[in-house]
Amino acid sequence: MKVTKAVIPAAGLGTRMLPATKTVPKEMLPLVDKPVIQYIIEEAVESGIEDILIVTNRAKSAMDDYFDYTPELEDRLSAAGKTEELEAVRRTADIANIFYVRQKETRGLGHAVWRAKRFVGDEPFAVLLGDDVMMAETPVTKQLIDAAERYGASAVGTQKVLPEAISKYSSLKVAPLDGRIFRVEDMNEKPTPEEKFSDYAILGRYVLTREIFDILENTPPGHGGEIQLTDGLKTLCKLVPMVAVDFEGRRYDTGNLKGFLEATIDFALRNDEVGAWLREFIEEKARG
Ligand code: G1P
Repeated sequence: MKVTKAVIPAAGLGTRMLPATKTVPKEMLPLVDKPVIQYIIEEAVESGIEDILIVTNRAKSAMDDYFDYTPELEDRLSAAGKTEELEAVRRTADIANIFYVRQKETRGLGHAVWRAKRFVGDEPFAVLLGDDVMMAETPVTKQLIDAAERYGASAVGTQKVLPEAISKYSSLKVAPLDGRIFRVEDMNEKPTPEEKFSDYAILGRYVLTREIFDILENTPPGHGGEIQLTDGLKTLCKLVPMVAVDFEGRRYDTGNLKGFLEATIDFALRNDEVGAWLREFIEEKARG
C-alpha cells in the first residue's frame, strides 16, 4: 500500500480563537515563524506524500495565496540580495502539489473529507486535521502509513487522554496487536463518561481507503447535527481491518488558545534563532 495523497480539512470557522480569526484563517496564524498550515503540509511531505488537497471555504483564500508565487516580493528580495528570505518565500510555493476544493456549507468533518472523493480516486490516502500540529522524531503520518502498510489496514492516530477530556474527542474500542499498535473494534464521537469505550482518543491523523466515501455518503448527521468522520469510521472498521497507532510525539490543538500557546512556546524553544533567548526570558519571568 503506497500512500502519496493527503487531504487536509481546513474549512472550520475558528470560533475558539476570535477575534484573531475574524479575518485571518486560523490555519494562517503564525506559530513562531510559519503559519500553522505549513507545519501540517511539511509533516505530509516528510511522510512521502506528493499530492495534497486542502478542503477550504470562501473565507480562506489567504491560504491559497500563501502557497503561490509572489513575483513582486520575490523580485524585491532578489534585488536586495536577501537570498535567505527569498528561498524561504519560494520554498512555500514549491513545497508540494497542492490542490483546493471548497466545502460550500459547514456540514462537519465527515462532509469535508467526502469532498475529497474525486481527488482521491481509488488510492489509500492520509487525512491530517488542520488544527492538530505534531512534534515528533518520525512524522506521525509516516508512523500511520507504516502501520497501515504492515497490516494492510486503515489506520488512526491515537493517544490516551485524561478521563475527563475524552468527551472532547472520539473514543476507541481497541484490542492489543503489537506494542503501540491496536486493532480498532469500535468508536464513538464526543462520548459521555458512560458511553466512552476507553480513554484512547483519535488525534487528528488517519490513513483511509476509498470505501470511506460511500460510507460517508450514507452517514446521517451525528454529534452537533454534523456529518461526523468518526461515524463513518465506525462503519469502516467493521468492514475492513483498521489499526490504531499510539504514536510517538506530542500533539497540540492549535485551534484553542491554550494549545496554541503551548505549541508556540515548545516550537520557539527549539528554534535556532530564538530558543536560547526564550529560555532565559521564561526563567527570568519565573523568578518574578
Ligand atoms: C475532531 C474529531 C474527533 C477527534 C478530534 C481531535 O474533533 O471529530 O474525533 O478526536 O478532532 O483530532 P473537533 O476537535 O473538530 O471537535
